[in-house]
Amino acid sequence: MDPLSFSQWTSINLASQDSSILINPVPLFTDLQLKKDYSQLVIISDANVYPLYGPFLIQQFPCRQINKIIIAPGERSKSLQTANYCWQELQRFEIDRHALIISLGGGVVTDLAGFVASCYMRGLDIIHVPTTLMGMVDAAIGGKTAVNFKGSKNLIGSIHPPRQVWIFSSYLQSLPAEEFSAGLAEIVKYGIIQGPQLFERLEKNTTAILAKDSQFMHLLIVECCKIKAFIVEKDERDYGIRATLNLGHTFAHAIEAAMDYQISHGHAVSIGLSCAFYTSKILGFIEQALIIRLHNLLKSLNLPLSLPEELSEETLISYMYNDKKTVKGKLNLILVKKIGSVESIEAVEPKLILTALKQKKAEKELE
Ligand SMILES: NC(=O)c1ccc[n+]([C@@H]2O[C@H](COP(=O)([O-])OP(=O)(O)OC[C@H]3O[C@@H](n4cnc5c(N)ncnc54)[C@H](O)[C@@H]3O)[C@@H](O)[C@H]2O)c1
Repeated sequence: MDPLSFSQWTSINLASQDSSILINPVPLFTDLQLKKDYSQLVIISDANVYPLYGPFLIQQFPCRQINKIIIAPGERSKSLQTANYCWQELQRFEIDRHALIISLGGGVVTDLAGFVASCYMRGLDIIHVPTTLMGMVDAAIGGKTAVNFKGSKNLIGSIHPPRQVWIFSSYLQSLPAEEFSAGLAEIVKYGIIQGPQLFERLEKNTTAILAKDSQFMHLLIVECCKIKAFIVEKDERDYGIRATLNLGHTFAHAIEAAMDYQISHGHAVSIGLSCAFYTSKILGFIEQALIIRLHNLLKSLNLPLSLPEELSEETLISYMYNDKKTVKGKLNLILVKKIGSVESIEAVEPKLILTALKQKKAEKELE
């Protein structure tokens, strides 16, 4: 593949504003790609990522004075306190309404920076440069921003689509294996939503995936970006089809909050997918064989299946009721009918979920 054919882009045409996703763009970033004459540029990144890719990013804008805001890595930075710190820094830098924020990092940085940008002076433009697989295939796309609040994941946030997303799949090479597998959980989710072809391709190519094969990962990222762009374009504000992207996430968010964010989002999603499959089975939608198939794929991608020992099924369910997706005290879950068919099921009884989770625990030995 020559560099030009390696370079791809896709766009999301939204009611609010269009957003383009450049995947391995050639040439790299230049002022021309900004499309607008911004008064100032501010990079928001975390302390792990900035030393790796920040200086290179700054070099791409030789004629610019660029301010930077560096936050602590990790989920705890998705907080109002860190947002407040960023706003204070923007004020100290005397940022005006025509400034551009560039977020450089994983989903924590893109979610936080997106939220910061959406509120400051009623909204600054933002470009996301995701550096984790989770960010490249999911978090940086679609405009959802958030911070966690008092034990509830993503409770405070906004929808603020980035002007552009710049994806460089080579950044995955420095990503620790555990963080890489976390992103794979969202790709498995796309495989379940999208249909057998993607799911089967994942099943057949686990070795290439775990080796971070650059060509395979490039194509996988392009495919996932297109799936997400397609869904977000149809339902930007999350009142319909976009909810399908929450497959496994009501469980995952509850696991993360109950574990005080000591488990990564992607690993919680992997366990959440398994919980959703067990709940689907209890409702008679799927057979055990599909659970085994899912488990085999997750295991071969080094993803966890079991709930943390210290988390009881009852505690998990109580956290699920704190989820922002709860409507009038009822739990609506995205469940699976087959690979390629998921559906929102309203008011799933907690008794049923408990039975499903107990069955999952009893079968742990088989995993
Ligand atoms: N807005 C959305 O639509 C959306 C979708 C999915 C996930 N999310 C959010 O994303 C967050 C999780 O994001 P994440 O999994 O990217 O985790 P993360 O942002 O915490 O990054 C994981 C770790 O990897 C480090 N890192 C990042 N890129 C690196 C690189 N290239 N090389 C070396 N180290 C690197 C980071 O410093 C961090 O320590 C969660 O808060 C989740 O809720 C949001």
